Amino acid sequence: MSADDAVQPRTLTVDLGERSYPIHIGPGLLGASRWLRPYLAGRQVMIVTNETVAPHYLAALKRGLDDDLTVREVILPDGEATKTLASVERIWDALLAEGFNRRCTLIALGGGVIGDMTGYAAACYQRGVAFVQVPTTLLAQVDSSVGGKTGVNHPRGKNMIGAFWQPRAVLIDTATLASLPGRELSAGLAEVIKYGLIRDRDFLAWLEAHMAALRGLDDTALSEAIRRSCEIKAEVVAEDETEQGVRAHLNLGHTFGHAIEAHQGYGAWLHGEAVGTGMAMATALSQRLGWLDAQAVSRVEALLRAAGLPVAAPAGMDAEAFIARMRLDKKNLDERIRLVLLRSLGEACLHDELPAAELEAFIAAFPRH
Ligand code: NAD
Ligand code: GLY
Repeated sequence: MSADDAVQPRTLTVDLGERSYPIHIGPGLLGASRWLRPYLAGRQVMIVTNETVAPHYLAALKRGLDDDLTVREVILPDGEATKTLASVERIWDALLAEGFNRRCTLIALGGGVIGDMTGYAAACYQRGVAFVQVPTTLLAQVDSSVGGKTGVNHPRGKNMIGAFWQPRAVLIDTATLASLPGRELSAGLAEVIKYGLIRDRDFLAWLEAHMAALRGLDDTALSEAIRRSCEIKAEVVAEDETEQGVRAHLNLGHTFGHAIEAHQGYGAWLHGEAVGTGMAMATALSQRLGWLDAQAVSRVEALLRAAGLPVAAPAGMDAEAFIARMRLDKKNLDERIRLVLLRSLGEACLHDELPAAELEAFIAAFPRH
C-alpha cells in the first residue's frame, strides 16, 4: 500500500446522551496526545496492561501522554485465568498506594481480559472514576471495549461479578494487530461474524468475500470489518445499554460458548473459539426449529472454518455438562435456559421455549472433536 492509500482514522459515536463517547479507529493512533488527552479526567493516569502487551505497546502509549501528567502503571500476569477479583484488587492497591483521587483516569491497554478488569476497577474505585479503552486484540477492538460491560470471572461462572461502566473513549490502533498471534485473530473474527449473523446479512456476504484478506491482515479490510462491527455494537448499546432486550442478541453462541470455556478451564479454549463453536451450535439448533435451511447452516459453518475457528464441541463434554453450565447463564429468567438463535441469516431472536429434554438431545447429537 502506498502512503496515499494509507487508511485514514475514522470516528464513530456510542450515543448515550451525556455519557456518549467516541470510538477512534485507525493505524498508528497510539503515541499521539490528541487521541487521548481530551478524555482524561485530571492529571493522574494509571495504565493497566499485562506482561505480554507491555513490551510491545506500553512505551508507545506513554509517548502520547504529556509530561505534565502523573503516569503510573500496573502490569498484570497474562491470561483468562487471571480475570479475578484478586487482580482487580491489585489495581485498587496501586491506585491507593499512589494516592490517586476521584479525578484520576484508568487506561486499559490490552485485550478483553485487561479491558474488563480495568473497567470494573474504575467502576468501583471511589464509587466510579474515568477510564479509556485501548484495545489491542481484534476481539477487544470489535466487541469488549465498546458498551461498558466490565467484570471478572467466578470459579462457578464466567463474568458473574461485574458492573456496567462506560469508558470515556475507545482508541483502536489497528496496527497493534500486527503482533497478535493468528489463533487470537481468529478468535476475534468469531465476534465479527456474529454481527453479520445477528444484524447484517450484507456484512455476512462481505465477510465471506474478504475472509482471506482479513486473515492476511490487509489494513483496508481490517479497518472496514472493525468499523462495521463497532457501528453495529454502538447501535445496539445505544438502544439497550443494560441488556433488557436487544443487547442480548450480542450473545449469539455465548451460552454454549461460556459453558465450553468454564468446563474446559478458563483459557484452554479461547473465548472466541468457544463462541465460534457456540454459533455453529446455535445455527444448527435454529435449523432444527425450522428457521434456517441446510444451505444456510453450511454457509455459516464454512465461514467459521474459513476464519480458522472450531465448529465441533469438545470431546468428552457431554450434554449434562453443557446444561449444568448453561443453567448459570445471566440471560436466564425463571429457571429457563434462554438462547439467542437465528430466525434467518442476519436476524436474531431470544428463545426459551425449548423443552429441556429436546435441548439435551440436540447437544448430545452435536458433533464432537
Ligand atoms: P485476552 O485479553 O486474553 O487477549 C488474548 C491474548 O492476546 C493474551 O495473551 C494477550 O496478552 C495477548 N495480546 C493482546 N494484545 C496483543 C497484541 N497486540 N499482540 C500480541 N499479543 C496480544 O483475550 P481477548 O480475546 O482479547 O478477550 C477475551 C475476554 O474478553 C474474555 O474474558 C471475555 O469474557 C471478554 N469479553 C468481554 C466483552 C464485553 O462486552 N465486556 C465482550 C466479549 C468478550
Ligand atoms: N459482548 C456482549 C455485550 O457487550 O453485550
